[in-house]
Amino acid sequence: MISTRLISLTGLMILGAIFVAACGGEEAEVVPTPVFEPTAASAGEAPSADTSAPADSPEPTQVPAALVGDATNGEALFTGASGCSGCHATGSTGGVGPGLSGIGTTAGSRVDGQSADEYLNTAIVSPNDFVVPDFAPIMPVTFGEKLSEQEIADVIAYLVALP
Ligand code: HEC
Repeated sequence: MISTRLISLTGLMILGAIFVAACGGEEAEVVPTPVFEPTAASAGEAPSADTSAPADSPEPTQVPAALVGDATNGEALFTGASGCSGCHATGSTGGVGPGLSGIGTTAGSRVDGQSADEYLNTAIVSPNDFVVPDFAPIMPVTFGEKLSEQEIADVIAYLVALP
């Protein structure tokens, strides 16, 4: 009988120990949950912002500069659909607009504080912000709507490479 009781007691103690351990385990799991939830909740509140923010938040300001232009497509746009070549020569003279020979260099010194890329982007999207001396402000102001940012980057890649 005694040994049976001892075994029972030992069994109970083991069960108790398991129970305590289990409880401890549960408690340990419960503690991180409230800590975790605010994180999950805030991530859930703005999942799209969170998803796009790490990848895109540095980019929106840099989109025009960060896009890699395709000069070949830029040339096609310049001479074709966009009609740039109707007003611009790629030599130094000719056309109702300035000849764009060497524009990659000239562009960087047109407007104080504007890099060549920034100037060219503005010259295409908002041509009247700076009107080249001796030329009339007749360049269409609609290219920002007609061309995508990628297409503008392509045209710029083509322009800066003009000898
Ligand atoms: C209807 C004629 C016309 C068309 C079409 C035209 N431009 Fe112009 N562009 C001009 C004129 C005129 C100027 C000079 C006056 C000014 O700065 O707005 C000019 C200025 C520029 C300049 C600044 C040149 C410099 O020396 O600083 C750039 C760059 C330029 N155009 C690019 C383009 C591109 C790229 C296209 C096509 C997407 C285009 N233009 C289409 C007439 C035109």
